[in-house]
Amino acid sequence: MKRSMMLCMLATALASTSAMANADLAKAKNCMACHAVANKLVGPAFKDVAAKYAGQKDAEDKLVTKVMKGGSGAWGAVPMPANPQVNEAEARTLVKWVLSQK
Ligand code: HEC
Repeated sequence: MKRSMMLCMLATALASTSAMANADLAKAKNCMACHAVANKLVGPAFKDVAAKYAGQKDAEDKLVTKVMKGGSGAWGAVPMPANPQVNEAEARTLVKWVLSQK
């Protein structure tokens, strides 16, 4: 158990330093069905999301909740559905990656 926790933390640490791993996670979790890094698709471009929330300390927590539960109104009338396929740790990894897009 301890060992698998360690491995898990290590994997998260590696994932947060590797843009590729995060892009793969976003693909695996179906985010890229509606999002692209540089262009608006159904949802906003991840670059635009990063620009909008740059410098906002509470943005990460807010977006983690939004990714998991879905919501609308920040970018337009089209809602993002809830994404029950991501747990909180995965949502946080993805949001950190989204917010690091420039
Ligand atoms: C079915 C299409 C769809 C999928 C799948 C989807 N999104 Fe979205 N996403 C949207 C739409 C539409 C919006 C804009 C919502 C709004 O205007 O508030 C959005 C908004 C966002 C935002 C910005 C939220 C805000 O309040 O500014 C983030 C971050 C985001 N998505 C990340 C993700 C991640 C990570 C995943 C994968 C787990 C994902 N999305 C999957 C459609 C989708």
